[in-house]
Amino acid sequence: MTSARFTINIAGLTKAYGKRTVLDVDSLTLESGHSYALVGPNGCGKSTLIKVLSGVEPMTAGRVDVGGSATREDLAVGYMPQRSYAFGFSVFRNVAMALHDSGKPRDEINRRVREALEAVGMADMADSRGSGLSGGEAQRVALARMLVQDLDVLLLDEPTASMDIAGTTLVEGALAAYRRRTGCLMLTATHAPSQARRISDRAVMLAEGRVVEFGDTATALSYPTSKAGQEFLSYWAV
Ligand SMILES: Nc1ncnc2c1ncn2[C@@H]1O[C@H](COP(=O)(O)OP(=O)(O)O)[C@@H](O)[C@H]1O
Ligand SMILES: [Mg+2]
Repeated sequence: MTSARFTINIAGLTKAYGKRTVLDVDSLTLESGHSYALVGPNGCGKSTLIKVLSGVEPMTAGRVDVGGSATREDLAVGYMPQRSYAFGFSVFRNVAMALHDSGKPRDEINRRVREALEAVGMADMADSRGSGLSGGEAQRVALARMLVQDLDVLLLDEPTASMDIAGTTLVEGALAAYRRRTGCLMLTATHAPSQARRISDRAVMLAEGRVVEFGDTATALSYPTSKAGQEFLSYWAV
């Protein structure tokens, strides 16, 4: 974990599956200290961008560099995939495993795990088996696995997609508290502009793999300048 200010600079980034290019991000800079929402319709490339940034998918072309007063090696990056998994052993261990190589003393690990499970409303299920969890519960456990760590960059792919309103509200609060505590850069994919407004101060909107809106969340989502942005948001207008 670093206290340095940094930027993540994306340039000429493309990702193709076979002959089809699904991501084409010419230029995008993410700055430490901000919470970014990654919005856009199904299939626009949100998960692909997050996978490439996390390193689980190689890019086809382009660069992702870290600038400012940190290097890539300084940054602790956490990635929560769109499909959450929980291992068969206990919920507690599912979360504690994130700290196995941290060198932290057992007391501290136990305290952090309890706090993270509390934050996502899963403290009562600490002893339950991971294999029996519902989709929403597995998603909460996957999130707790992130929140026990001190991360500089948190990449979340539709973290509340399987949750009901109560769960979503709780988790959004937990993420805000985590950000206040750690100051991490957060990038959260969501297909809901309403959630983007609640959890982010900046928004990146994708359409067919390209960035079509970028900036202050309220402005980008209230006054989209692109045709694709206007069309996407028109579905959400009340
Ligand atoms: N492993 C893959 N192989 C082939 N096509 C893929 C693969 N993963 C995603 N795609 C395609 O890439 C496009 C972007 O997908 P994705 O990034 O998952 O979109 P989003 O997360 O915004 O819904 C979609 O058209 C999807 O079908
Ligand atoms: Mg997705």
